[in-house]
Amino acid sequence: MALGLFKNKKSVSQLSLENITLPEHIGIIMDGNGRWAKKRGLPRSAGHRAGAKNFRTITKHCANIGIKYLTVYAFSTENWKRPESEVNALMDLFKSYLEEAIRDFKDEDIVVRFIGDKTAFSPELQALIRENEECSKDRTGMVLNIAMNYGGRDEIVKAAREIAKMVESGEISSDGITEQLISQHLYTADQPDPDLIIRPSGEYRISNFLLWQSAYAEYVILDDVLWPDFSKEMLEQCILEYARRNRRFGNV
Ligand code: FPP
Repeated sequence: MALGLFKNKKSVSQLSLENITLPEHIGIIMDGNGRWAKKRGLPRSAGHRAGAKNFRTITKHCANIGIKYLTVYAFSTENWKRPESEVNALMDLFKSYLEEAIRDFKDEDIVVRFIGDKTAFSPELQALIRENEECSKDRTGMVLNIAMNYGGRDEIVKAAREIAKMVESGEISSDGITEQLISQHLYTADQPDPDLIIRPSGEYRISNFLLWQSAYAEYVILDDVLWPDFSKEMLEQCILEYARRNRRFGNV
């Protein structure tokens, strides 16, 4: 397995999850479902199904090892440009997944939230989203943000509009616009910024994911692993790589 951006290959082996500070918030760009299917001569929808299965495995593992927040990129504001058949297959997958998720994440004590513009989804899917959020809201375990119809730019525009209204109404002056206020108007308000962002499948791009929140996130890109094959062990290696990074937040 070639691990792009793994800068500390030797020393990673001396660490274990028990003796490091875990990232509080992990973001994952679940990329490579299409290529995974193509390699097997299968339709892209089969890749997304395999990706959905793996999403459950990795989410549960994150919760089990003590991650507090996990954000997964399931559907971007730009993904509507895909062929109608693929978009429809993804919407069907989201529906069947959300029906099962209500039961599935109960035992794991996972709080399920959705980030993104939900109004674009069918009424049935929106109802399932609400049901998942409602029935998990009093749990105390890991918070799982599922980014659906999510775009970092779209989120910042939404925040800017809300804040502009506050200025227009005289609730705050323009000097009252601070980084903290903008953060509070994002979908992830009241959550810590991601510490670690993982992207399998070798694309060295942010793809409009958590643009504001990832200002100081550490990126780990896996060069030759497609999302359906991304394993629990790989997740742990990414976390160990993160632990070796020297985070300076602009300081020396
Ligand atoms: C990117 O791979 C993946 C997506 C656009 C969809 C991600 C969705 C899932 C993993 C489904 C499960 C999610 C939930 C919440 C049930 P790609 O299609 O761009 O792959 P490619 O780059 O190889 O074409």
